[in-house]
Amino acid sequence: MIVTIDGPAGAGKSTVAKRLARRLGFQYLDTGAMYRAVALAGLRRGLDWNRPEELADLAARLSIELTDDCVLLDGEDVSRAIRTQEVTAVTRYAAGNPEIRSQLVARQQAMAGGHDVVTEGRDQGTVAFPGAECKIFLTASPEERARRRLGDLRGRGEAATLEEVLEAQQARDHRDAAREVGPLARASDAVDVATDGLMIDEVVERLVELVRGKKRGRAGGDSDAD
Ligand code: DC
Repeated sequence: MIVTIDGPAGAGKSTVAKRLARRLGFQYLDTGAMYRAVALAGLRRGLDWNRPEELADLAARLSIELTDDCVLLDGEDVSRAIRTQEVTAVTRYAAGNPEIRSQLVARQQAMAGGHDVVTEGRDQGTVAFPGAECKIFLTASPEERARRRLGDLRGRGEAATLEEVLEAQQARDHRDAAREVGPLARASDAVDVATDGLMIDEVVERLVELVRGKKRGRAGGDSDAD
């Protein structure tokens, strides 16, 4: 079974998706980490961001592996390196590149093939896995999302103010939604879950129930067909 979790930055997707996968015994696919890894590779090689074809060529040659708790870029653990503000700021060159998007979507589909997976991103329910059985669109108010992002940054020792985070978030939301290929979008058959004021555990419980409901529906459908 494929469970997709899409939504804007800071809605709580990563924490929720990771815990949901653990609860269900499913594999966890952090697709944002893949775009970040491509951007990090471009940054390290000093690529010219105005040459999208060079970044796409580089992306095609990279080995990107996602395990439950780390991201390996050509075998190196870059889990922390991909989450700095510097990398976050240039990830748009990877995410906005149609060639890279089609490469990474193909990799995501290959990684998920035949497995039980919780996959999180922006286009998972719409582009990567339109046939997924359980689709979730996770949201939270801009202020709540910025507060969470600020907490993450400070936790990693990076200096930032709430205003800066809000401003960067607004620009990112706009780019994510306006992108021609794979924009942030809610699939028409996705279930909306707003996380404002909810504890992570409450959100995870709600999603576990949703997935179990879908599984029961599937089992019921199978026996009906018999
Ligand atoms: O979820 P995140 O913040 O780690 O994502 C990093 C960037 O990658 C963000 O700008 C959105 C983009 N992204 C995307 O375009 N498509 C995805 N499936 C996942 C992330």
